[in-house]
Amino acid sequence: MHEVKGVIAGAKGAAVETVTIRVPDPGPGEALVRVKACGVCHTDLHYREGAINDEFPFLLGHEAAGVVEAVGDGVTNVAPGDYVVIAWRAPCGTCRSCRRGRPWYCFDSANATQPMTLSDGTRLSPALGIGAFAELTLVAAGQAVKVDPAARPEAAGLIGCGVMAGFGAAVNTGGVSRGDSVAVIGCGGVGCAAIAASVLAGARVVIAVDVDARKLEGAQRFGATHVIDASARDVDVVEAIKALTDGNGADVVIEAVGRPETYRQAFFARDLAGTLVQVGVPDPAMTIELPMIELFGRGGALKSSWYGDCLPSRDFPMLIDLYLQGRLDLDAFVTETIPLSGVEAAFTRMQQGEVLRSVVVF
Ligand SMILES: NC(=O)c1ccc[n+]([C@@H]2O[C@H](COP(=O)([O-])OP(=O)(O)OC[C@H]3O[C@@H](n4cnc5c(N)ncnc54)[C@H](O)[C@@H]3O)[C@@H](O)[C@H]2O)c1
Ligand SMILES: [Zn+2]
Ligand SMILES: [Zn+2]
Repeated sequence: MHEVKGVIAGAKGAAVETVTIRVPDPGPGEALVRVKACGVCHTDLHYREGAINDEFPFLLGHEAAGVVEAVGDGVTNVAPGDYVVIAWRAPCGTCRSCRRGRPWYCFDSANATQPMTLSDGTRLSPALGIGAFAELTLVAAGQAVKVDPAARPEAAGLIGCGVMAGFGAAVNTGGVSRGDSVAVIGCGGVGCAAIAASVLAGARVVIAVDVDARKLEGAQRFGATHVIDASARDVDVVEAIKALTDGNGADVVIEAVGRPETYRQAFFARDLAGTLVQVGVPDPAMTIELPMIELFGRGGALKSSWYGDCLPSRDFPMLIDLYLQGRLDLDAFVTETIPLSGVEAAFTRMQQGEVLRSVVVF
């Protein structure tokens, strides 16, 4: 048993706190990871707002890189001393989706079986089965994916969630390939990763849409060929995307905000038979209404992207290699590094649009 500092969300909407938590030694199939860096993702804020579920208290943090400290019985994929990025999907290999050869949807992904707790024994719910705003965290060994230790943890950890989700939304879910036109609505960490992936995949036109001019500047750094400021009074996002795609709309539109109005824009900004990829996570109360004739008449595909339909053991080492080769600028996602006590302030900066990613370093 280890006593370490961790950041918890204790109640719906309440400010997060840094407290002492208890982390057990790894049991069979588990790995204990010493966290080196962990990014602040919008999903952590969704947890704090009670928008994911109400299983408070949450141990937040889920975009992390670290070093394996110890492993339990039967663990073969990692050993103490290995440098890893933590994944929130560890395909089980036996659920109905894995058995159909679709492990990227795995319906029974593994997490640690022993709970981490507060010092009074209260069980913590780790965000996305990770909980890495903590000096040590306990995960299922399959969640720890070995990557090249040459990648600095502040950058490497980001592929554990936002970067992988956005990258995979474009190339895995959206199937973006050479010559495509792509529009990305919402250019935070997730949207910018979708832009970078579209550029790497050879898209001809990559349109970035956001309501914040600073985010659009960032999007251009990742290779967006055009930007649309959706906050401008005279701008109609759908018409603006059409104007940049010969009047047709984009082959693939990626919604990386998680709101009905941006979903609607994505739906109408597609070319005929085009693909919409929803990677933004909506609040449970949100609804959307669309004319059925348009759903039919426009054809194509309306897809959601859970974690960029990734296979961490396949995709994490690949993204790290692209980074080390200078082809994927993970450093550009790291706006600032902060201490563990800085998470609440980082949420505020995220809401004010001041950062792409704040990253806690230990
Ligand atoms: N599907 C997944 O597996 C997965 C994984 C990680 C994150 N997410 C979700 O993806 C979304 C984005 O995450 P993030 O970390 O990039 O968040 P973020 O807050 O960094 O970025 C959101 C961006 O959307 C922009 N925006 C807000 N309203 C807009 C509008 N009306 N039109 C255009 N742009 C608008 C904001 O200015 C901001 O730049 C969140 O909903 C998050 O929960 C999903
Ligand atoms: Zn499975
Ligand atoms: Zn996340």
